[in-house]
Amino acid sequence: MIASSAPGLRREIAGVSVAELAERYGTPLYVYDAEMIRRRCRDLAAWDTVRFAQKACSNLAVLDLVRREGVLVDAVSTGEIHRALAAGYTPHAAKVASADGLPPAHPIVYTADIFDRASLDAVVKHGIHVNCGSADMIEQLAERMPGASITLRVNPGFGHGHSQKTNTGGEGSKHGIWHEEIPDVLRRAEWAGMQVSGLHMHIGSGTDLAHLAEVAEALERVAIEVGRSLTMVSAGGGLPVPYKPGEVHADLSGYFTLWDATRKRLEDRFGHRIRLEIEPGRYLTAESGFVITEVRAVKKQGTRKYLLVDAGFNTLARPVLYGSYHPMSICPQGDDAAQRLEEVAVGGPLCESGDIFTQTDGGFVATRPLPAAGAGDLLVIEIAGAYGFVMASNYNSKPLPAEVLVDGGSHRLVRARQTPEDLVRGECV
Ligand code: LLP
Repeated sequence: MIASSAPGLRREIAGVSVAELAERYGTPLYVYDAEMIRRRCRDLAAWDTVRFAQKACSNLAVLDLVRREGVLVDAVSTGEIHRALAAGYTPHAAKVASADGLPPAHPIVYTADIFDRASLDAVVKHGIHVNCGSADMIEQLAERMPGASITLRVNPGFGHGHSQKTNTGGEGSKHGIWHEEIPDVLRRAEWAGMQVSGLHMHIGSGTDLAHLAEVAEALERVAIEVGRSLTMVSAGGGLPVPYKPGEVHADLSGYFTLWDATRKRLEDRFGHRIRLEIEPGRYLTAESGFVITEVRAVKKQGTRKYLLVDAGFNTLARPVLYGSYHPMSICPQGDDAAQRLEEVAVGGPLCESGDIFTQTDGGFVATRPLPAAGAGDLLVIEIAGAYGFVMASNYNSKPLPAEVLVDGGSHRLVRARQTPEDLVRGECV
């Protein structure tokens, strides 16, 4: 848990006053701590390539920040390709191998299970490398970019995530090329004149290292089937983040060692160097992000007390989608803070009963011990920097919140709050 002055209280985010941020930019507000993102990028320095799964948090300022840390980027749509380019990523790899003999890394990789027509156009226009999650993509790309090299996203037949909805392996998942189809897919690639230069497996999001460790062995088996054309292997994303009190950071050095050993065995077998990639989303940005909301009403429904805030599942959807737990704290209006903790349910403004931040999987309303708060106090939802803003919506015609980056004690707006005019842009009667 992130430290605060007393249990459940938070007056600052990375040295900047929560009250000042709320006053200056309004609420609900997403705030990111730049230094935390840098720290998480540096945690993964042992890997040849860290590729940010920008779907977790794709604000241009965040992309620019990770790019400056030497982190490359994944894109899953035309929009994400556009964002990567706008944040300063170049579409092509340098042609030369690096000093350590490693093959060049592609700055942007398009990873998906389909090309919609616009994304195929964008990939072709910019010459972006493609990681194919379905065999049909190979022929579709071959028609437009003959002779291109591709990587294959493989479904190893098992998966795991913090929720069944984020498990991306096994028969229950639509993702990736089924591991037993590889010989057939390799034939299709050869007929299409495409080179398979890499393999990628991503078994799910919010999993644990025990499940992730099984992937290295599965990938090695497939790599042997693919053979010497391989110059890159990717462990995918899925690195866990501690959300709940008592959870701790996983030991990433052991995880790297396992993958490094896998890579080295493949290098020995093929007689050339192999680039080792990791593709985290959540790990890089989750802990950097906060949602500042204002408490607008306090009420009792029978025996249960509710704090109603101005953020809802239109602002942060993870609790309603997965029953996800996010730590919360109160920033009181004045200097006096209630010392007494009370059990409260926290909900938002939406006209839907599921608009509750303290819910468990299945939609059951739970409570949280928080310092007593009233209308006008601020409530901060923490560890909200991954799959937070990016999954926000305009439900109930609520504008998307602003986003602010805090760095070195100062703060700046990195996305303006939507206006009522933005909400009806493009509509006509
Ligand atoms: N690579 C691929 C191909 C992915 O599909 C994903 C996530 C990642 C990497 C990054 O996974 P991470 O390191 O963030 O676990 N909305 C859900 C998470 C969905 C993840 C989708 N794919 C949530 O809020 O938990």
